[in-house]
Amino acid sequence: MKKQTYTATTLAGLEEVLAQELIEIGADEVQIGRRSVYFSGDLKLLYKANYCLRTALRILLPIDSYKIFSADDLYQRGKNFKWEDLFGVEQTFAVQSTVFSDLFNNSMYASLKLKDAIVDRFRYKFGERPSIDSKKPDILINLHISNEFCTISLDSSGESLHKRGYRLDQNEAPMSEVLAAGLIRLSGWDQKSELIDPMCGSGTIAIEAAMLANGLYPGTVRKDFPFRNWRNFNSDMFKQMEDEVGTEGISPVRISASDISRRNIDIAYRNAEAAGVLSFIDFKVSDFKFLEPASEKPFLLFNPPYGERMTPDDTNFYAMIGERLKHHYSNATVWVISTAQCLKSIGLRPSRKIPILNGSLECSFRKYELYAGSKKISPASDSKE
Ligand SMILES: C[S@@+](CC[C@H](N)C(=O)[O-])C[C@H]1O[C@@H](n2cnc3c(N)ncnc32)[C@H](O)[C@@H]1O
Repeated sequence: MKKQTYTATTLAGLEEVLAQELIEIGADEVQIGRRSVYFSGDLKLLYKANYCLRTALRILLPIDSYKIFSADDLYQRGKNFKWEDLFGVEQTFAVQSTVFSDLFNNSMYASLKLKDAIVDRFRYKFGERPSIDSKKPDILINLHISNEFCTISLDSSGESLHKRGYRLDQNEAPMSEVLAAGLIRLSGWDQKSELIDPMCGSGTIAIEAAMLANGLYPGTVRKDFPFRNWRNFNSDMFKQMEDEVGTEGISPVRISASDISRRNIDIAYRNAEAAGVLSFIDFKVSDFKFLEPASEKPFLLFNPPYGERMTPDDTNFYAMIGERLKHHYSNATVWVISTAQCLKSIGLRPSRKIPILNGSLECSFRKYELYAGSKKISPASDSKE
């Protein structure tokens, strides 16, 4: 089968775990870029990447790349490209752009130039043009311009892959599913010991952990991939990939998820049900201040609430987390994501610090290894990243 080069995009800080995932599903020539990983493989691998990867946002198939020196260069080259080989006038399309270049004032203008070129190509060839659908196009075209370098790709994922399809409702600050999956991998959780999220909100960390431990791929929930609209879509090959991937059998691992808010637990429960992992997660309403560990060597992974600016309440809240961990969670491995400023108030010495972006907010993902008699430290002695 013909090999192609693809680009998988991801969140800043998750490039290495995505590269690891790609190697696991059989990708070749895996190379890390900025918020992206390049790889090669056949068409079946493209289907598998969309179906299996937990830390990718989109899988792009580059179809043309070249240098441009004016906006008109983009139009001319776009008009000469054989778009009719890829889709027909009866299909809808849209162009999504990311532009870091002085040639364009904004990415909308670049999208418009390429859209005009495609429409004019079809008109010239067939006297008709395909329609635009910016919400749910049959064919999504991705345009990336960095200075004078321009790459045009087909977006095989359409809606970002973080939209797994199980989030029926959400709390006020839900975590991206891709970030949750990435943090779980970064934490090195063994997928055997019980994982505890004591501030679970809408349940993302617990649901992603349960799916991972049980070999349930995101594609088992989400069925809608735009590559199904491509001319070369091979439904037998897709079915074969689904059969080969299967599920890896049921693991006996337990996940515990709690939250102070009854409403959030109800939301998390419904989301877990939609994801097909309800039976693996124990949900309960509980204030972390009073939560006792259920196992002897607990593994906690959570994101406490935080705002962009630290308030005195936040200082007390994070100090409470540190106290609770120190006095009730000896023998625990604890991973917490928050802002570096908030985490200082936990007052425990982290054994690892990983800088990570949550949305646009710079955060730190920190590991605390507790043992009987863990030393509390003064906030000032918490070293800088
Ligand atoms: C940033 S959100 C977590 C989001 C979650 N990871 C998700 O994906 O939806 C923080 C959560 O901590 C919960 N929370 C706040 N104070 C708490 C406490 N004392 N004990 C337990 N949960 C608490 C909030 O109700 C909120 O759902």
